[in-house]
Amino acid sequence: MSRSGDSARIPKPTVKRLSLYLRELDTLEDHGQQTVNSKQLGDALGLTDAQVRKDLAFFGDFGHPGIGYKTTKLIGELRKILGTDKPWNAAIVGAGNIGRALMPYARFRRKGFEIVAVFDSDAKVIGTTISGHKVRPMGDLPALVRERNIYIGIVAVPADGAQAVADALIAGGVKGILNFAPVRLDVHDRVSVVSVDFLLSLEQLAFQVSLGLTGSLDEREE
Ligand code: NAI
Repeated sequence: MSRSGDSARIPKPTVKRLSLYLRELDTLEDHGQQTVNSKQLGDALGLTDAQVRKDLAFFGDFGHPGIGYKTTKLIGELRKILGTDKPWNAAIVGAGNIGRALMPYARFRRKGFEIVAVFDSDAKVIGTTISGHKVRPMGDLPALVRERNIYIGIVAVPADGAQAVADALIAGGVKGILNFAPVRLDVHDRVSVVSVDFLLSLEQLAFQVSLGLTGSLDEREE
C-alpha cells in the first residue's frame, strides 16, 4: 500500500492547520452543522477567512458560492489530503507511563489510527495485557510490523533507548515515527518523524508568561 500523498509540496504550517480545520469541522458535524464558511472556520481557530481560503485552495476548489463549504464533504476531502481516510496501524514501544496513557485512547481509532501492537523490553511487563493490548517482546517486532501492516511506530521509552528502538522500527518497516523521548532521532531520511515534547511547550509558555506576553504562541498564522 503506498502512502505517498500530494501534500509534500505544501507549506508545513498549512498542513498543520488542516488538522485544526478537521478538528473544528468534526465538532461542527457532531453538532449537526451541514455547511460552514471560511469566516466561521477562521473565527473558531483565530485565523482570517483569507487564510482559511488560501490554505484550502492549495488542494482544490471545495467551496460553494453563497453556501461556503459542505461540512461532511470537506471533512472527507481533508482526511484524504492528510491520508487519514484509510486506517493507519500503529505500534507503541514502551509500555510505561506514556505508553499506557495512549493505549486506551479511543479517539485515535475514531480518527483513523489503530494501536495494533505494543512492545517492551522488560520481562516483567512482557506478556501482560494493558487496555486490551498484550505486551510483546522486542524480538516480535519485525514480524508483527509486517503481518499487521504497521506504518507508524510510537517511541515511548527513555531517551537512552530511543535511537535503538527507532532503528528497530525502521528495520521492521514502519514509515513514520511519533517520538515522545526527549532526544533527536537520527533517521537519515528513511522515515518521517514527528516529536512531541510537553516540556518544550511548557518552557515556551513559561518564557511567554514571564515576559508578560499574551496571545498564542502556536504557529497558526505562518
Ligand atoms: P517509563 O519508564 O514509565 O516507561 C518506559 C517503558 O519503556 C518501560 O516499560 C520500559 O521497560 C520500556 N523500555 C525501556 N527501554 C526500552 C527499550 N530499549 N526497548 C523497549 N522498551 C523499553 O517512562 P515514561 O514516563 O512512559 O516516559 C517514556 C518516554 O517519554 C521517556 O523518554 C520520557 O522522557 C518521555 N516523556 C515525554 C514527554 C513528552 O512530552 N514528550 C512527557 C513525559 C515523558
